[in-house]
Amino acid sequence: MRIKEINLIKNKIESLRKEIDRLNHSYYALSKPEVSDFEYDIKLKELEALEAEHPEYFDPNSPTQRVGSDISKNFVQVEHIYPMLSLSNTYSEEEIRDFYIRTEKSLNEDFDIVCELKYDGTSISLTYENGILVRAVTRGDGIRGDDVTANVRTIKSIPLKLQGSDYPPQFEIRGEILMPWKVFDDLNKERAEADEPLFANPRNAAAGTLKLQNPAIVSSRKLDSYLYYLLGENLSVDGHYENLQKAKSWGFKISEAMKKCNTLEEVFEFINYWDKERRNLPVATDGIVLKINSARQQLNLGRTAKSPRWAIAYKFQAEQAETRLNSVDFQVGRTGNVTPVANLEPVLLSGTIVKRASLHNADIIRNFSVHIGDMCYVEKGGEIIPKITGVNKEARFLIGQKVEFITNCPACGTKLVREEGEAAYYCPNHFGCEPQIKGMIEHFVSRKAMYINIGEETVNQFYKAGLIKNAADLYAIKAEDIMKLERWAEKSAGNFVESVRNSLQVPYERTLYALGIRYVGETVAKKLAYAFPNIDILMNASFEKLIAVDEIGEVIAKGLIDYFSIESNRILVERLKSYGVRFALDEAVLAEKTDILNGLTFVISGTFLLHSRDEYKALIEKNGGKNSGSVSAKTDYILAGENMGPAKLEKARKLGIKIISEEEFLKMI
Ligand code: IVH
Repeated sequence: MRIKEINLIKNKIESLRKEIDRLNHSYYALSKPEVSDFEYDIKLKELEALEAEHPEYFDPNSPTQRVGSDISKNFVQVEHIYPMLSLSNTYSEEEIRDFYIRTEKSLNEDFDIVCELKYDGTSISLTYENGILVRAVTRGDGIRGDDVTANVRTIKSIPLKLQGSDYPPQFEIRGEILMPWKVFDDLNKERAEADEPLFANPRNAAAGTLKLQNPAIVSSRKLDSYLYYLLGENLSVDGHYENLQKAKSWGFKISEAMKKCNTLEEVFEFINYWDKERRNLPVATDGIVLKINSARQQLNLGRTAKSPRWAIAYKFQAEQAETRLNSVDFQVGRTGNVTPVANLEPVLLSGTIVKRASLHNADIIRNFSVHIGDMCYVEKGGEIIPKITGVNKEARFLIGQKVEFITNCPACGTKLVREEGEAAYYCPNHFGCEPQIKGMIEHFVSRKAMYINIGEETVNQFYKAGLIKNAADLYAIKAEDIMKLERWAEKSAGNFVESVRNSLQVPYERTLYALGIRYVGETVAKKLAYAFPNIDILMNASFEKLIAVDEIGEVIAKGLIDYFSIESNRILVERLKSYGVRFALDEAVLAEKTDILNGLTFVISGTFLLHSRDEYKALIEKNGGKNSGSVSAKTDYILAGENMGPAKLEKARKLGIKIISEEEFLKMI
């Protein structure tokens, strides 16, 4: 190729990169799209094609690299250059006044306070060198955090390469990684359909996503960010506010909701405005942060061990709405627990319409002395399910019927019972109560259990048609039986039968989980399967034998004893066995299992060459050992790879814990 042509291509690639970076910035950081998605995609595809043809121009900071690779890696711990402190919290105007007076006295000169929103996500520290993002680290314990650079690089509002040229050669900027409400709601909907556990709030979802091992999945989760604190030795400007405005010009997403105030009145005005207006924001906020603007004054004010004296957070009250109680339903779950649910006059609460809320339990209903027609306070705290937090008795004009907890099961009429010391009532008719039967079967077929390809609706349909009364009946269903039912045809019926047949391959630890025994979740089921390699041994294990197993406590043991003491449950297990459902550990797994590491606790740290971290974890468990996440006096060995965190190393040395390498560990087993 001629030199001229090469230059043309190189220039084209560079100009496309620049342009797409700019479009990303307008779209993600400024929320002002410049072109349609279609036009954007064309440019991105063009760049992808050119880069594919000319790998010699590869640049890890190209906008095409944002999707994240598939390489999985464990996180390396990195020490923060400046510790990541937290803020002291206040909940009243009084405390803000105190903060102001305290600052006035200490500084003895005029000062500005910057008011900002307190974003409710997970904090991040970004380091830039010569305008390039080189590292992204989580808060961790404030001293050290996880290096999550690969994941953060997929977040489109975070520049990989800065704009302009007046940025310091090296600096750190901190901020919050957020999952917008809309993304959070969609993600949870998807997870509910896939029968995966839901995230309680966008904060947990964002933090969980940042810790995923696969950047491509992180990329698909559409995280966002706001940066709110610039740090470095060589910042040219003294003002925090001014620094953030500069950072904005370099391409960072800086909140518009920020004000430099000189008086307390201005501060309160900001708080009152955003306390209401924040409900219209696309991301979660939980308060206001006040910061003294001048870096010189910040230095003067100093810090305590935990937080700076130049900043304070004012937390909003949990969002509350007041609405009328129309009726109360009592829902029966798969284990028979009865939960009271309030049907409300629809009301807007943090951006969504709320029609139903939890009324907790019998004791709380009694304490509230709530009546139908009452005006109730509803809150959406950290949880997704809103709850009733009180009754506005002053707004009671006509008194409706008093809400009483029911005495009999709303589904089957059986008298409810309550375990001593527990708040919940439950229906003991586990085998004759429709919602319990259906709930148990839904659990049995779910993805993490037997993974039989049907959902709630089909379970209901089969139940109504008299085809299933318990999980074992699924194995007796023939394609002809269901082809007669509505919505079914030969092909779909065949698929269903095949999916049931495939479930016979599901290993013992999952079939154990599928039974839906109280307190036996996935992890407990695994522990039990290793300790009691077939169901007969488990069924006949005594209470003492059960609690002798690591991490099996009295509550779980009692759950198991209760379950197997019921004859119908034993019959169910026998029937499932007769159809070929696996109730014994795989021979191969059994053969590899040893008790060489019995009674030993391991902490795994660092990155490994010969096996992955998860493989080492499994090896430890298979050989009778126990994994733990943190080093303590109970730790026997640290299995150390490369880049083991220095904090762990130090602690291990202090406690005299043996540190072994991969090779040494493998020899051991
Ligand atoms: S400044 C030393 N500004 O709140 C001050 N923090 O408890 C550093 N946060 O860990 C923090 N919005 O995750 C600051 N506008 C804001 C913030 C903010 C949210 C979080 C941050 C921090 C925590 C403090």
